[in-house]
Amino acid sequence: MRLVITGTTGRVGRALADRLAGEHEVIEMPRALLDLGDPEAAVRALWEIPFDVLINPAGLTGLEECEDDPELARRANVLGPAALARHCRDEGARMIHFSTDYVFDGKSPGLKSEEDLTSPLSIYGMTKHEGELAVLEAGGTVVRVAWVFGPEKAAFPDQLLADALAGRPLGAVADKFSLPTYTRDLAEWIAALIGRVGTSGLFHACNSGEPVSWHGMAEEIVSFLTDRGLLEPGVTVRPLSVMDLPSLRAPRPIHTAMATDQLVAVLGVEPRDWRVALHDHLKSSLDLE
Ligand SMILES: NC(=O)c1ccc[n+]([C@@H]2O[C@H](COP(=O)([O-])OP(=O)(O)OC[C@H]3O[C@@H](n4cnc5c(N)ncnc54)[C@H](OP(=O)(O)O)[C@@H]3O)[C@@H](O)[C@H]2O)c1
Repeated sequence: MRLVITGTTGRVGRALADRLAGEHEVIEMPRALLDLGDPEAAVRALWEIPFDVLINPAGLTGLEECEDDPELARRANVLGPAALARHCRDEGARMIHFSTDYVFDGKSPGLKSEEDLTSPLSIYGMTKHEGELAVLEAGGTVVRVAWVFGPEKAAFPDQLLADALAGRPLGAVADKFSLPTYTRDLAEWIAALIGRVGTSGLFHACNSGEPVSWHGMAEEIVSFLTDRGLLEPGVTVRPLSVMDLPSLRAPRPIHTAMATDQLVAVLGVEPRDWRVALHDHLKSSLDLE
């Protein structure tokens, strides 16, 4: 199939382009070629390109950036994706768009299903939610991911790993919980989803296991390093509150771990535990095995 992938300078877009190029013809459309901030120009950029599936991980992903420029957030996360989704519908192509667990208010614990009520707290969450509705309305597919990590671009685990190996004091937020998404697993699920022609709708896509805080992930990284003799025993991670980090100005939901039953029903594969995925990521980052 011919796939157009946006956001290929980002974490998810890069992972998808690398994985899917082995199986499909991939046309990469980074921001320089397709700017969601200008929805009409974004559609024009696709006029001359016949494709079967448009995959859109691009968007304004920084929560503080969205608070600072809500108008740009709306164009990049709502109007741009909506215009692309209508173009796909008109051209008879499929669209797979990405969204976030931050569409939930996170006030109560428990795994969130695709049917659960959304009530985003931030401009990022609100615009991503509006974008979801527009893409679904045009017949597209929306995949919600959370706390994404992978080799394509440093994320929280990579910063923690670097700090731990450098002997710096460790601290991590302990009062926010989700289930992370490993890019390499996500890329496999999307590859399989592309193969299920005729499938559309809303899917949660994250690893499985107990919901975890960044502090819990940090402790897992420390114990991984200690078990392999890469860190002295006894290194601890100071638990922090989101309130301790004034740079996180946008409101963030507390409990946003997602259930993946819909994805499992369509693909027939259970996502692996986030700890196993994190270990794989650490092993490949450290060139172990
Ligand atoms: N990362 C996470 O933890 C996380 C969690 C939940 C949901 N998600 C969702 O997953 C998707 C992928 O996230 P990610 O982690 O890959 O994000 P990312 O690493 O921040 O990448 C975002 C991508 O979007 C591009 N972009 C930004 N503004 C654009 C615009 N106006 N027009 C076209 N492209 C634009 C960026 O291009 P430049 O490089 O040029 O800026 C970059 O390629 C997003 O929809 C995000 O909302 C991510």
